[in-house]
Amino acid sequence: MTDIVDDTITQSGGIRPTRTATTRSVLMCSPEFFTVVYRINPWMDPALPTDTNLAVDQWSVLHQTYLDLGFDVHLIDPIPGLPDMVYAANGGMVIDGIAYGASFTHPERQPEGPAYMDWFRANGLDVRVPEQINEGEGDFLLVGDTILAGTGFRSDSLSHGELADIYGREVVTLRLVNPSFYHLDTALAVLDSTPGQEHIAYLPSAFDARSLDLLEERYPDAVIVTETDAAVLGLNSFSDGYNVVIASRAADFERQLREHGYNPIGVDLSELLLGGGGVKCCTLELRT
Ligand code: ARG
Repeated sequence: MTDIVDDTITQSGGIRPTRTATTRSVLMCSPEFFTVVYRINPWMDPALPTDTNLAVDQWSVLHQTYLDLGFDVHLIDPIPGLPDMVYAANGGMVIDGIAYGASFTHPERQPEGPAYMDWFRANGLDVRVPEQINEGEGDFLLVGDTILAGTGFRSDSLSHGELADIYGREVVTLRLVNPSFYHLDTALAVLDSTPGQEHIAYLPSAFDARSLDLLEERYPDAVIVTETDAAVLGLNSFSDGYNVVIASRAADFERQLREHGYNPIGVDLSELLLGGGGVKCCTLELRT
């Protein structure tokens, strides 16, 4: 007699939810000039060697993964002397064809703001030049019709007001407290952004008490990740609603995602982790 494995039942006996993939359009930047020559987050150590060719190879696997998922992948040319430009998520926020440009906290990255805005303009987006310091999708995540907006290390909370004015959507401020999780996308992942079935994952210790209350109240069924998975930037992942591209080392998160009906796809970006970034950091979603 053979056992019948019913894939719709989870280990704990619950019904595994059905998830639906929606094709995404994303912007990426090859790490051709990636290296660590300054330190603007605790992951970066200019004394440690980096291997740019390996970074390009690993990034190419992420790029190919998105193509295999049927995503519409756009590329922006990397610029010599801007080693962090590979982290495209920081280049801005794009919703409804409107691109809110980035204005970086650290002088080392400031020239990236105009470079990304030039690309947005050349590609027909309605560009809004920012007045406030903000690092784009690194700190801003769209969940349903709400924008979760991080602050504490990089984006100024004043940029949250600018966001609300531009997009006419609810903006919820979340305060980050651990310097290792300095951007919102290192501490929180959007798994399903479909209005009415919003689903996220996060690391509770990365937030202050008020933000944590907000998260618990709004997302009672969120996936709570382990410190171990967060420490390999496991949360820095990109979901199309069913397929979730994650750090291959985030083993518990991978299991949790399966339990929740997702299809996790592991990618190794160890070289880019030396700059303090992972999957999501390399991905800017274009919602046109
Ligand atoms: N070295 C970059 C910085 O510190 C990494 C950016 C990571 N990007 C992200 N979306 N979390 O700014």
